[in-house]
Amino acid sequence: NKLLPVQVNLTVCLPTFGRPGKPVYCCPPRNMLDDPIVDFEFPDPATTPIRVRRFAHRLDEESIAKYEKAVSIMRSLPYSDPRSFTRQANLHCQYCTGSFLQQHSTLPVRVHKTWIFFPWHRMLLYFHEKILGSLIGDDTFAIPFWPWDLPDGMTLPAFYLNGSFINHQRDPTHFPPAVADLDFQLAPGGTSPEEQTDLNLALMYNQMVSGAKTAELFMGCAYKTGEGGDCFGPGTMERAPHNTIHKWVGSAFHTGREDMGVFYSAARDPSFYAHHSNIDRLWEVWRATHPEVNDPEFLDSYMYFHDDTSRLVRIRFRDVMDIDKLRYRYEGVENTWLAARP
Ligand code: C2O
Repeated sequence: NKLLPVQVNLTVCLPTFGRPGKPVYCCPPRNMLDDPIVDFEFPDPATTPIRVRRFAHRLDEESIAKYEKAVSIMRSLPYSDPRSFTRQANLHCQYCTGSFLQQHSTLPVRVHKTWIFFPWHRMLLYFHEKILGSLIGDDTFAIPFWPWDLPDGMTLPAFYLNGSFINHQRDPTHFPPAVADLDFQLAPGGTSPEEQTDLNLALMYNQMVSGAKTAELFMGCAYKTGEGGDCFGPGTMERAPHNTIHKWVGSAFHTGREDMGVFYSAARDPSFYAHHSNIDRLWEVWRATHPEVNDPEFLDSYMYFHDDTSRLVRIRFRDVMDIDKLRYRYEGVENTWLAARP
């Protein structure tokens, strides 16, 4: 039984379960195979400026206003438009709850709890960012990152409480100045902001350094089509702070802490994208000091996303391994948790 790269079978999109007992249907309005499919091409470095993703809490008014305008235009697009906010959010629902099956297999495609967690979300952000930029005619537009791992970034960025960034399905007791609990277990912590900050830094050291020495530990289990395709073992980062921040932001009035707390609804909250921008940044930080996963089954797996011109693009994980080629980078920050070795 030869292992194969994971490929998405687009011929059917299935209704799924958002959470136990709660059916969701987050499929596109028509068969995606009706759209022409193009293979991914790198942006031309001669004509494409570098997008710089910045520290969300330090964004200037002008950048926030641009971002807000882009999101409001995206929200105004009809569902038939793959660039619309709901379609973008539903991509996460489709690929995370199992709307599509894998080629050559009856197993659903699921992008969490496996080593494709990082590159799949990178793809989602890459196209989302390009679409937002194109909606405001700004090819330097970049999604900010929410650095919940750094002492100055541990609160929900305040701009998410305004304009088209508003999402009502959040926990208001966690609005700024509440310090995020990176190990949030749904119970109130009773810790002071200073204590919480120290606990967060220590957790980061464990998730990024001492507990993340191998790719399997950091990225999650090897996910391939067929035998071994049913892999469920998240890496350190995915388990926490990734999952915990999702739960911490979402509303306490919903069992799954929707929107952010559950796969099917998470990307409906605009803060999802800055949360994942930070996850993506931390993946780069980890990769700088660890060997690459060079397994072709991993690198040749491919997924589909609509681009800013609404074309359906087939893109391999191999294509997103070098962010310079994708023409974006992260503003430099000091990763203080590196010094938080217990
Ligand atoms: Cu696909 Cu943050 O989850």
